[in-house]
Amino acid sequence: MFHAVVEGWGAYVPAHRVGNDELPAQLETSDAWIRSRTGIRQRYLAADGELTSDLAVKAAEAALVRAGIGADAVDLIVVATSTPDHTFPSTATAVQRKLGAGPGIAFDLQAVCAGFAYALTVADQFIRLGQAQTALVIGAETFSRILDWEDRGTCVLFGDGAGALLLRAAPGPGAPDQRGVLASYLSADGRHYHDLYVDGGPSSTQTVGHLRMNGQEVFRHAVTMLSTSVHAVMERAGLPLEAIDWLVPHQANKRIIDAVGKRLHLGDDKVVVAVDRHANTSAASIPLALDLAAADGRLQPGHLVVVNAMGGGFAWGAVALRW
Ligand code: UT7
Repeated sequence: MFHAVVEGWGAYVPAHRVGNDELPAQLETSDAWIRSRTGIRQRYLAADGELTSDLAVKAAEAALVRAGIGADAVDLIVVATSTPDHTFPSTATAVQRKLGAGPGIAFDLQAVCAGFAYALTVADQFIRLGQAQTALVIGAETFSRILDWEDRGTCVLFGDGAGALLLRAAPGPGAPDQRGVLASYLSADGRHYHDLYVDGGPSSTQTVGHLRMNGQEVFRHAVTMLSTSVHAVMERAGLPLEAIDWLVPHQANKRIIDAVGKRLHLGDDKVVVAVDRHANTSAASIPLALDLAAADGRLQPGHLVVVNAMGGGFAWGAVALRW
């Protein structure tokens, strides 16, 4: 019996930073609107030819270096993404190839903004079952490629980036006071399929399509789903909400993050916010935020961290882990 321990982390954003004031003038938006409605100040956009796998590899390399582990030791790569390099093969196999890792298990997982919580859960289960020892869990996106750059209601909200965790198998089932993944809770409800979707795809239109969102409906459900998932995961971990050192939520909107923190009675000093600098990077937002909090010293070994996310599907969930 094994449990999964975080041994490394890393993140990467493209070089091109775009502040709210630098968005195309024809969008008729403003820094004041974007900041007050979302908390976003800027986003990073991938360069021409810079692929999701390129961002993922940079994040993965940082996680491997931090863990002191070579790519040849990685026997599982899960890439959470809704913006794969190609329809197939998986972006995870592109990452495997570029890292010089493998042969090993490699696949993509698509749960949109909840992708990282889903991928972390799946990797943890591979490790628990003894089917992998060293896993890279990556969230990587180039959402800029699926945005309608004439729709100010959506295009100002998203950015590109990647983040990764390196998990290693440790002996035993794990315990709440030990480092490692403690519990997870996942859910989805396809009745909301059309509240947040991309209007293209290989089977439907044979085009890539653009992101479409019923923002207010997403907002309304996000606060409830993000809050209930934290209650559910902490119950599964056998710990009270007060045990949380850091809530690291999906970074879509500062107003959503604040509302969730308030519902959970978690002060601002326990909630990691990165949406101001990255905008919404979908499956990459949580590992980008983890990297930020680890790099600035807030996140320390032994801290109880809960990550939670909600997005298209709707799909949502949370993972509790001891850092
Ligand atoms: O990661 C997946 C999860 N996604 C989310 O969590 C997103 C959830 N939704 C949201 O964050 C918010 O609903 C938005 C930020 C998308 C929108 O905020 P809102 O407060 O719900 O604004 P709204 O859509 O009701 O729009 C209010 C007004 C409208 O004008 P009128 O009809 O009141 O005259 C919009 O046309 O703001 C206008 N507007 C803009 N104005 C300037 C919409 N987008 C913009 C913009 N700049 N970029």
